[in-house]
Amino acid sequence: MDQLTASSPCNVVIFGGNGDLAIRKLLPALYNLDRTGYLGDNTRVIGASRTDLGHDGYLDLVKQGLDQFVDRAQWDEAVWERFSKRLTYVAVNAREPETFKNLAAELDQDFSCQDTVYYLSTAPDFFGEISRNLNEAGLVNSSSRVVLEKPIGKSLASSKVINDGVSEIFAENNIYRIDHYLGKETVQNLLAVRFANALFEPVWTNAHIDNVQITVAETVGVEGRWGYYDDSGALRDMIQNHLLQLLCLVAMGVPVSLDADAVRAEKLKVLKSLQTMSLDKVRRNTVRAQYAAGNVGGKAVPGYKEEEGGKPNSQTETFVAIRADIHNWRWRGVPFYLRTGKRLPARYSEIVIQFKDVPHSIFPEGSNLASNKLVIRLQPEESIQLNMMNKLPGLGEGMQVTPVTLNLTMPDHIADSRVPEAYERLILDVIRGNSTLFVHRDEVEAAWVWADAILDGWKQSTVAPHSYPAGSWGPQAAFELVARDGRSWQESN
Ligand SMILES: NC(=O)c1ccc[n+]([C@@H]2O[C@H](COP(=O)([O-])OP(=O)(O)OC[C@H]3O[C@@H](n4cnc5c(N)ncnc54)[C@H](OP(=O)(O)O)[C@@H]3O)[C@@H](O)[C@H]2O)c1
Repeated sequence: MDQLTASSPCNVVIFGGNGDLAIRKLLPALYNLDRTGYLGDNTRVIGASRTDLGHDGYLDLVKQGLDQFVDRAQWDEAVWERFSKRLTYVAVNAREPETFKNLAAELDQDFSCQDTVYYLSTAPDFFGEISRNLNEAGLVNSSSRVVLEKPIGKSLASSKVINDGVSEIFAENNIYRIDHYLGKETVQNLLAVRFANALFEPVWTNAHIDNVQITVAETVGVEGRWGYYDDSGALRDMIQNHLLQLLCLVAMGVPVSLDADAVRAEKLKVLKSLQTMSLDKVRRNTVRAQYAAGNVGGKAVPGYKEEEGGKPNSQTETFVAIRADIHNWRWRGVPFYLRTGKRLPARYSEIVIQFKDVPHSIFPEGSNLASNKLVIRLQPEESIQLNMMNKLPGLGEGMQVTPVTLNLTMPDHIADSRVPEAYERLILDVIRGNSTLFVHRDEVEAAWVWADAILDGWKQSTVAPHSYPAGSWGPQAAFELVARDGRSWQESN
């Protein structure tokens, strides 16, 4: 386990404190930070939302949420006693500046005595308004931080409006844009594997790597949020943020340090080297599709348009496969295949770095020499494995070789037995004022430039999205996208 240092006392104010994300993820993360000793003594957690729940009503709601979303093995009545004393609730309407006085009264002297974090877990349309109203209520000083949930806009233009609104009040170094994939232990471990070992960096180039595949597969459909999803689609919901952030961590050069600015500089270089696609490239290098009725995990499920609230003329993509090309010296000619979709046969997120074949085989004809692969699994379980070839033991004639897996996952005797949730790491980093694992405005904008070109291309296309049966790995066109390059998707087992 790493060294335990309780953070300095802090006021954590959650706008949208009674919403789905707060109840399912943020408050369980704060509970666990308290349980593991990372919350400073006077740290307070203040839920702030429109509904007038009252203090007791909020406590009941949070308790019910923790009962449901905290693992029973981590439940400790004494911790709840302590955590519940940190909790309060104020009714604040983002659109009504005078209600911010309720928050000012609640924070009172604590505002000047300790840092304050505003976690905006509301629709992004509110971000600018909440920032302005906080400032007008005298609740922003040079150490106040603001956390922004995704999505930061639906395009470059709308992201600029949101970022401009928040930047009027908060300096960029006090703005923490969350991409919770960056809080996963394995994603951070990717940095350790790459940069704390001399082994990988020399081969981390187009001379040795054949292709990179990043897959985020979901079995679920739209889960009752058809309208919200239809407005977004898989490219905006997944690729523009999560998959591009993962791509950056794989593709970036060695930063001069782990400081936020140094890491951002390297990630930004990658995003700026992503080739913006022409119409022709969009047609050739992207596949969008929508699920039709099918069968997932033995259960019949309706098609996307037939889901509750669905509309028959929707063209929104629930699946995307893309060949992305990074135009720099390191990655010239190495395709990055990105794939995400709903109603796929399995739920997992994985990065596969596929190395080139050995240039010449000296082994008996028919030896199946598999190329080396570094497989980084982010969910459901987290692991890093290196696939290599080894000799098959035995006295048979000729040397027989077989693939083996080298497990780079932290052994239990070293690791804390429990891998912290991404939100625990990220919230603690905000409290500590460490923004390395957060996304800078420049990155958001560079990612939108690339995504907008694809969205524009689709808009101009007269071809409707492909269809795939729920429970399949997407449309035939997604297989053809990689087969055309003489490659295939790494199917998960
Ligand atoms: N849920 C997730 O897993 C998830 C994952 C990633 C990102 N996000 C993003 O996180 C944000 C919150 O998502 P969510 O799923 O928690 O949404 P949600 O369940 O709909 O919650 C929205 C919250 O916003 C509050 N709110 C609405 N209007 C308000 C106003 N005028 N003033 C103050 N508060 C107001 C609501 O409070 P009242 O109920 O009191 O009106 C509620 O607490 C969204 O931007 C979403 O895209 C969510």
